[in-house]
Amino acid sequence: MQLPKVIGHRGAAASAPENTLESFRRAALLGAGGIELDAKLAADGTVIVMHDDRLDRTTSGKGPVRDASYRTIAALDAGRWFGARWAGARVPTLRAALDEALRLGLFLNIEIKPCPGRDRETAAAIVALLHKHWPAGRPLPLLSSFSVASLEAARDLAPELPRGLLVWNDPEAWRREAGRLGLRTLHCARQYLPSDLRAVRAAGLGLAIYTVNSRAEASRLLRAGADSIITDRPDTVLAA
Ligand code: G3P
Ligand code: MG
Repeated sequence: MQLPKVIGHRGAAASAPENTLESFRRAALLGAGGIELDAKLAADGTVIVMHDDRLDRTTSGKGPVRDASYRTIAALDAGRWFGARWAGARVPTLRAALDEALRLGLFLNIEIKPCPGRDRETAAAIVALLHKHWPAGRPLPLLSSFSVASLEAARDLAPELPRGLLVWNDPEAWRREAGRLGLRTLHCARQYLPSDLRAVRAAGLGLAIYTVNSRAEASRLLRAGADSIITDRPDTVLAA
């Protein structure tokens, strides 16, 4: 599958509050071809865009996301922690993020990031949202996850949606999972690269590396066979 060379991590996380519409707009402004975001369920089943399992780090709230209703989350400030000028930014619903990515013309990588124990239902809710709202004729979003259970659910419910496996310290996991999960891409940590990057591509998988914020490293990885760089700093990496 054709991946953009530069995908903004949580939008443009180095220069805007991560996983907000403001961050997605900033990624577009800085020249990213796509964005990555983290999607999970609020207590009432609304799919929201947030990385952590707790509200504490990136919002004015406290406690586990899985116990908070969307009504509560929507009232929180998701920008002030990053800087006073971002005060008033909100935690977006995935629905709002889809609309924004479409409006900006950005490729969308939705990371399924379930709260503990919600792997299958999170994938199911994301797939249902895409089936309902993603317009025909627009390039399909790429679903990625560290959770094999989430990817299995996505495969069963929406075989047509491209899927990518996220790995941390087991970069060869694609060898056993690619066929079974019907993977189109592999997303590796820069700290734990597969022994042979070109073998990943030879197997027909697109290869994305996260989270690369230096121009020299991005250009070395692209030369070595990576298709896409997931970065907090799209403008820095773009020059590679
Ligand atoms: O999708 C790449 C990257 O976002 C995975 O790790 O923890 O930043 O979501 P994390
Ligand atoms: Mg992520």
